[in-house]
Amino acid sequence: MIIANIADFREAARRRLPHFLFEYLDGGSYAEETLRRNVADLAGIALRQRVLADVANIDLSADLFGQNVAMPVALAPIGLAGLNARRGEVQAVRAAERAGVPFTLSTVSACPLGEVAAAASKPFWFQLYMIRERSFMRDLLAQAREAGCSALVFTVDMPVPGSRYRDVRSGLAGASGPMGALRRAGQAAMRPGWAWDVGLMGRPHHLGNIAPLLKGRTGLEDFFAWMRGNFDPGIHWRDLEFIRSEWSGPLILKGILDPEDAKAAADAGADGIVVSNHGGRQLDGVLSTARALPPIADAVGDRLTVLADGGVRSGLDVVRMLALGAKGVLLGRAWAYALAAGGEAGVTKMLGLIEAEMRVAMALTGVTRVSDISRDNLASQ
Ligand code: GLV
Repeated sequence: MIIANIADFREAARRRLPHFLFEYLDGGSYAEETLRRNVADLAGIALRQRVLADVANIDLSADLFGQNVAMPVALAPIGLAGLNARRGEVQAVRAAERAGVPFTLSTVSACPLGEVAAAASKPFWFQLYMIRERSFMRDLLAQAREAGCSALVFTVDMPVPGSRYRDVRSGLAGASGPMGALRRAGQAAMRPGWAWDVGLMGRPHHLGNIAPLLKGRTGLEDFFAWMRGNFDPGIHWRDLEFIRSEWSGPLILKGILDPEDAKAAADAGADGIVVSNHGGRQLDGVLSTARALPPIADAVGDRLTVLADGGVRSGLDVVRMLALGAKGVLLGRAWAYALAAGGEAGVTKMLGLIEAEMRVAMALTGVTRVSDISRDNLASQ
């Protein structure tokens, strides 16, 4: 199919992936109110159109945590995204490198840290959850250091996982044992392209970094059971001391939605935060990130680097987030859809679209440098 924008990548992913994988990626929690709000509130942000501003030379480059990036965008950590294409995270990191933006490897990736590091030629970011086994966290952080990861994204909004009813309906989380596996195998059989590329040629299916903890169990239900049992609901601000003692590089807390928590993150010495509601996958009904971002940027924007995600489906949306106060934007579902649709080339194309759309949005709002985008570019509504 012809891909003109990110919505087309989503449709291509829907046609390519087994139903349970697409639903896991595409869905949110409960009634998916927050998922919808993320998209709708951001799309509803009106920019000011300005003219005769000499926009012949537009510079998208920026600095994120001391790293020069081609545009102020990074690929967000997404669990299991590597199953969307053969050795998927390896393909994605290559596309991110080519586009000059950071890739973030999830703790719960399909490809382990070492495999991604071997494929990468530049530093990438690593994401970590609070896991009960501190020795395992220590070991992962040591691997991330060894791999030269240039920032740690520590996810703080998942002491417990939100309920995602699509996963129950699809058979990913609902049916356990042989029935669940059979249902998923049936769905995979209806997607022969994926079954060949990933199911057969994409082995091993070991769930990367957490494979040692699963002790030979490789089923998706083993993974979800592990996640429920091993994410630490006791996670607390005091745990940042532990993280800091193991990680001296840039530390970014992902999942901040409240100005008070943003201030606490700055007090705790975080270098950055991601204003995020986990793509509408955790507490349904909370604010969209487009609405949560401005007061947070006001509260801590001068103390740490404020990033944002949620509902970003175009380069225009990236510019909207920057105008709302973000210094950088994480792209989540966009890259995972693109990876499913076209592997490395798909992610490269998606990032090219983001870049082109950013250029047009900046030209028509009359700004030529990313650092000049501000609330001044927002139309009063
Ligand atoms: C994991 O972070 C998920 O949202 O499934």
